[in-house]
Amino acid sequence: MSGKAKIAVLVSGGGTNLQALIDAQTNGIISLGEISLVISNKPDAYALERAKAAGIATAVVNRKDFCTSIDFEDAIKKLIEKNGIDVIVLAGFMCILGENFTKAYPRRIINVHPSLIPSFCGKGFYGLRVHEAALAYGVKVTGATVHFVNEIPDGGEIIMQKAVEIEDGDTPEILQRRVMEQAEWKMLPLSVEKACGEILRGKNA
Ligand code: GAR
Repeated sequence: MSGKAKIAVLVSGGGTNLQALIDAQTNGIISLGEISLVISNKPDAYALERAKAAGIATAVVNRKDFCTSIDFEDAIKKLIEKNGIDVIVLAGFMCILGENFTKAYPRRIINVHPSLIPSFCGKGFYGLRVHEAALAYGVKVTGATVHFVNEIPDGGEIIMQKAVEIEDGDTPEILQRRVMEQAEWKMLPLSVEKACGEILRGKNA
């Protein structure tokens, strides 16, 4: 197969990781994939503005519009299928996707998590809460992990991990920013490029 892997990015909030992916596409760090669609579960997510500014198609799938999580996931699946998506990137997507969804896309869904898995991960650990927990525990090193998504929350195969030092006086917000700058925004594009390469090689085989 010639051409690029088609990427969908799922978001819920500010979208700095989405921005890192868009920038990586612009500067050639992502060359084997193309961001074709951004899906948000929140209609007011700033990430949607970032996508629009980059000329990327957007869609909103609001959990509140569906009776069950299966219906919600099926609506996302429909968009994925309709747009011929190869790789799904969870970039600050704050919903846990069930087996109904994850089993449909083995080694096709990538998540970025703001800690060194298996620490501070799983149900209830997301966004700033992860950094609050790391500081409350008193660990001296934290970091971020990019992994494939399976039916266990934050339990899929690890693609990349990077450690980040905790410094005296850190607040959750300061630590979150350092983890993003030093780890997430660098690793996520590299991991996505790697996964796109794998998918293209599989299609060509
Ligand atoms: C990021 O730190 C991401 O790792 C985290 O939420 C933040 C989203 O920021 N994701 C999770 O906690 C998922 N379990 P962003 O919207 O600016 O990319």
